[in-house]
Amino acid sequence: MSHNTFGHLFRVTTWGESHGPALGAVVDGCPPGIRFAQEDLQAFMDKRKPGQSRFVTQRREDDIVKVLSGVMPQEDGTMITTGTPVSLFIENTDQRSKDYGDIAKRYRPGHADYTYDLKYGIRDYRGGGRSSARETAARVAAGALARLAMPDVTIRGALVQIGTHKINRDNWDWAQVDQNPFFCPDAAMVPVFEEYLDGIRKAGSSVGAVIEVVAEGVPAGIGAPVYGKLDQDIASGLMSINAVKGVEIGNGFEAAEITGEENADEMRIGADGKPVFLSNHAGGILGGISTGEPIVARFAIKPTSSILTEKRSIDADGNEVDVRTKGRHDPCVGIRAVPVGEAMLACIILDHILRDRGQNGRTR
Ligand SMILES: Cc1cc2nc3c(=O)[nH]c(=O)nc-3n(C[C@H](O)[C@H](O)[C@H](O)COP(=O)(O)O)c2cc1C
Repeated sequence: MSHNTFGHLFRVTTWGESHGPALGAVVDGCPPGIRFAQEDLQAFMDKRKPGQSRFVTQRREDDIVKVLSGVMPQEDGTMITTGTPVSLFIENTDQRSKDYGDIAKRYRPGHADYTYDLKYGIRDYRGGGRSSARETAARVAAGALARLAMPDVTIRGALVQIGTHKINRDNWDWAQVDQNPFFCPDAAMVPVFEEYLDGIRKAGSSVGAVIEVVAEGVPAGIGAPVYGKLDQDIASGLMSINAVKGVEIGNGFEAAEITGEENADEMRIGADGKPVFLSNHAGGILGGISTGEPIVARFAIKPTSSILTEKRSIDADGNEVDVRTKGRHDPCVGIRAVPVGEAMLACIILDHILRDRGQNGRTR
């Protein structure tokens, strides 16, 4: 299987399967001289790791990330990147392959079982192998490193919709995001999500979600048109996350519904003599190049395909079968996708900052 690498100058290759002994990432092109502690990476791993509430899978993984290469250890316990490949290693400790015996030959509707078999002729059915979102742990580790390389950029994510339940954007409070199990910025929505998801979970069902990710402090002028547009690469990075079925930049699909007058991001000269935008429908990107405004993207996650209800499918021998997926699953994978979306945004933006520096020879 090829295509396990993304990025140009900050180049991330992930490896590993759901039920193998470990998984990880190799980051080639990480700038030298970044001092960090293991805990700086671990904080982001802990946000994504399973088993943290009743609303996510009960698989127990500590997701401790080890840095195997690319750093000089310091006496105080920190590490400094050397510019050589940084290898990030995460052990799998709570694999239960027997949960998957039933689907060794059967294709779960909505999962990647059929297409992986079709394409490769062999499939690691234990937890979905490489198609499992365990792989996203490696992205989160790489994303944590990317954040450290651009300390002036703040990247945050929030869950804004579960099923048909949307947050009230007037209630948006970033401080709320880490106060509830949903990464939800609207405190009033938390009990609604709780009750709704409890019902979904008890029924062995699943539901989708929408996540918003925002990058602040990205300098104006980042992006490489015409085939390396910043929005294009962000969309690609977010779309590469498991179960993502839609991506929007800025006001996204709403832009198709409003007039040019409403959509225009007007400009003025601010008190400091610098240009200011009076709105940000563009989501911080025009012509594939950052404007200096916050970069805003949203992505839609489909309902977890692993559900307890029997669904019609076929098996590898061509028989028609009914499939019911046992095992431990997230009723709404959108929750744990929040830190994954942040990580992808971080990697893509850092890659573009380095590319801009490479072409223009200056730090913006
Ligand atoms: C954080 C996260 C956790 C996931 N966990 C599960 C899961 O437990 N069961 C499942 O069927 N799908 C899960 N998925 C989704 C599948 O990995 C994904 O649907 C599958 O690989 C097929 O790919 P596609 O949906 O992108 O086409 C998860 C996705 C994410 C982002």
